[in-house]
Amino acid sequence: MAATIQLDTQFQVGAIDRRIFSGFAEHLGRCVYEGIYDPGSPRADERGFRKDVIAALAPLGMPLMRYPGGNFVSCYNWKDGVGPKEKRPARTDYAWHSVETNQFGTDEFMAWCKAARTAPMMAVNLGTGNLNDVMHLVEYCNLDTPTYWADQRRANGQARPYGVKTWCLGNEMDGPWQAGQVPAEVYAQRAKAAGRLMKGMDRTIETVACGSSGRWMGTYLEYDRTVLEYGWNEIDYISAHRYSNNDANDSAAFLAEGLEIDRILEDYAGLIRYVRGKLKSDKQVHLSFDEWNVWYRDRSEDGRWQAAPHLLEEAYNVEDALVCAQYLSAFVRRADLVKIACIAQIVNVIAPIMTKRDGLLLQTIYHPFRMIAEAARGVSLTPVIHGPLYKAGKRGDAPALDAAVSYDEGQAEIAIFLTHRDGTAPLETTVALADKPFGGVRSVEILTHKDPYAANTWEAPHAVMPVKGTATVVDGHTLRVTCPPKSFTTVRVAVA
Ligand code: AHR
Repeated sequence: MAATIQLDTQFQVGAIDRRIFSGFAEHLGRCVYEGIYDPGSPRADERGFRKDVIAALAPLGMPLMRYPGGNFVSCYNWKDGVGPKEKRPARTDYAWHSVETNQFGTDEFMAWCKAARTAPMMAVNLGTGNLNDVMHLVEYCNLDTPTYWADQRRANGQARPYGVKTWCLGNEMDGPWQAGQVPAEVYAQRAKAAGRLMKGMDRTIETVACGSSGRWMGTYLEYDRTVLEYGWNEIDYISAHRYSNNDANDSAAFLAEGLEIDRILEDYAGLIRYVRGKLKSDKQVHLSFDEWNVWYRDRSEDGRWQAAPHLLEEAYNVEDALVCAQYLSAFVRRADLVKIACIAQIVNVIAPIMTKRDGLLLQTIYHPFRMIAEAARGVSLTPVIHGPLYKAGKRGDAPALDAAVSYDEGQAEIAIFLTHRDGTAPLETTVALADKPFGGVRSVEILTHKDPYAANTWEAPHAVMPVKGTATVVDGHTLRVTCPPKSFTTVRVAVA
């Protein structure tokens, strides 16, 4: 099998926003408790923050961390989670039928973000919450005024405002599972009012409005259109979510999941253009793909009123990692549209990182994230791909090769991200760069395994790891690399 990719450094899609490599931490299962905060662990610091989790996150370089939900936020009272810990009430968490002890709240999260070198992307409760509480949270986090909630923050040990820039206006408000679910027209009013008040309190704030919860929903795009048309001036990003599954046990189709992701991005690009055109606006709205991952095996969503129950503890294999690679490649390809994206989630809950009290495990999906986040810098280039099709199960014939490319002029480097979806044969890939000669190959990394269902486990934690590969600059303008069956490859090459 052979494929070619034609490139030109002038064919630029747009600057890659590093925030597409962001994460999501929800009060759900063992994500916060026992994940990022675990005072009983020998691996925790004096504040209870897991040092090994922070260290494992570092190579992923996540610029933003979305928090505290997810579904959790839609019945969360943030005021329960600040002040002296012994006075904080335990509460029922409607979303996951769990007990929320409130031992980790806004101040702990801000301190954790600082320790983890990330920035908060706060979600507000537009389900059961009210606008006063939203405004108080903005005051608590961002204002330096001599007023009650800013004073409370100072009394709780934080003199300076946290300066939270990015705020989500609720979560999945079209979903029947969501506390306070409402029709689009009602949510649009809530979101617009909240956005206006929040921006009125702090002009530096950016807002992310809920779109529909997924392409499978009857509300898809129409909810989004309603929200965008009504709230356009108060909205900076519209949110999209997707969880991929191989429920049908049709791996060939599952591995072509990138086609579906591309389709969603196309849909949103069209929708945003439509609303912008209809409103005759010069303002721009971008996409925040703030929940994405593979999720279908562990659907345990009922915490049986326990604190930190084991929920959504999905174990990931090689195929899942190849699907995750396609999400990030799609976001790189559509750098003009996608400015924020958050893998859901970061630890223990549908996550690249798993913990036990004295141990940490990197799942397969950790690796493509690290590989792309480390290499994708500068601008996204359009890859013109000619390659074979393969039999992609219920999807019919699909391209065997998925590719994205970044160009970092400052470092004189092109990074090429290649997912070979087909499992029958290696793919000999030729990359031609029209306008500049290649220099030397700087690195090649390959993630694959002879068993596509292989996973990293506590017993065999390094079963699936990226390995170094080779690529050859054949003549000045041509590079060759062989992609193994069902693999993800990154090539970093110098350009003159
Ligand atoms: O990430 C798990 C859940 O999936 C989130 O809480 C919710 O927003 C989505 O339905």
